[in-house]
Amino acid sequence: MRVEALRKTYDHGKVVAVDDVSFEVPAGGSLGIVGESGSGKTTTARLIVGLEQADSGRVFFDGEETVPGAGRRSRRRRARIVQLVFQDPYQSLDPRQTAADAIDEILRLHSGLDGTGRVRRRVELLEQVGLGTREAAALPRELSGGQRQRVAIARALATEPRLLVLDEAVAALDVSIQAQILNLLAQIRRNTKVALVFVSHDLEVVRWVADEVVVMFRGAVVERGRTAEVLHEPQHPYTKLLLSSVPRLGWDPAHVSTSRRDFLATL
Ligand SMILES: Nc1ncnc2c1ncn2[C@@H]1O[C@H](COP(=O)(O)OP(=O)(O)OP(=O)(O)O)[C@@H](O)[C@H]1O
Ligand SMILES: [Mg+2]
Repeated sequence: MRVEALRKTYDHGKVVAVDDVSFEVPAGGSLGIVGESGSGKTTTARLIVGLEQADSGRVFFDGEETVPGAGRRSRRRRARIVQLVFQDPYQSLDPRQTAADAIDEILRLHSGLDGTGRVRRRVELLEQVGLGTREAAALPRELSGGQRQRVAIARALATEPRLLVLDEAVAALDVSIQAQILNLLAQIRRNTKVALVFVSHDLEVVRWVADEVVVMFRGAVVERGRTAEVLHEPQHPYTKLLLSSVPRLGWDPAHVSTSRRDFLATL
């Protein structure tokens, strides 16, 4: 997947949410998008999956430009290429639908499998995300946050997409469940060769899933590179600020605020 000079504004151009953003993700690769709140991460994610239309710029899959805004057929086609997983699975899961039915719905729409084939595939998908028969029969509210996110991931995988875009997909989970989901994603990527775009405000989380990272600030990419290198030796002052803002032993919120003020004063 490649995006080229994406730009998206709101409020008649007064808000520039995404400004000249370009990057690419190789087949089976993984890219982290990090930046503070309001830096344009979600807008970028929505542009990639076609939920928003760019003012200008282009999105390519396998070298082919996506046609914006078209009808049901092209939406279906795109769904088999790219899927989005949200922070809050309540957004994508129907409260009246069991996990099994939620997955079956996607298989009906996209797989062309018959009843038996769908059951087999559903079991496989649930297994892939580590859910058993009890969870399969449960409604979203009967599941934990981590389990719900697993259902959302299984559902996204049901179209066999080439790319999974995850927008703060672990942000609402406690740290041990975060770790489980991050491991799961790494495992899924190994087994299915699906590429990942992983959006997070948390650089430490990105470290575990993304080979490469782009750092966004006020809609623009300010730094990019191999994740390990960017985290080890950040070049841009904003990346340094982000890294020093991560809560850890000896963390001082007052110091973080001062550093941020100093950084903004340099612009
Ligand atoms: N539908 C919209 N209408 C108007 N402005 C919007 C809209 N969506 C996003 N914006 C603005 O665009 C900018 C980027 O928002 P975006 O949601 O992409 O940020 P983000 O990096 O995902 O932030 P967060 O970490 O808080 O989720 C913000 O200034 C936001 O207020
Ligand atoms: Mg966001």
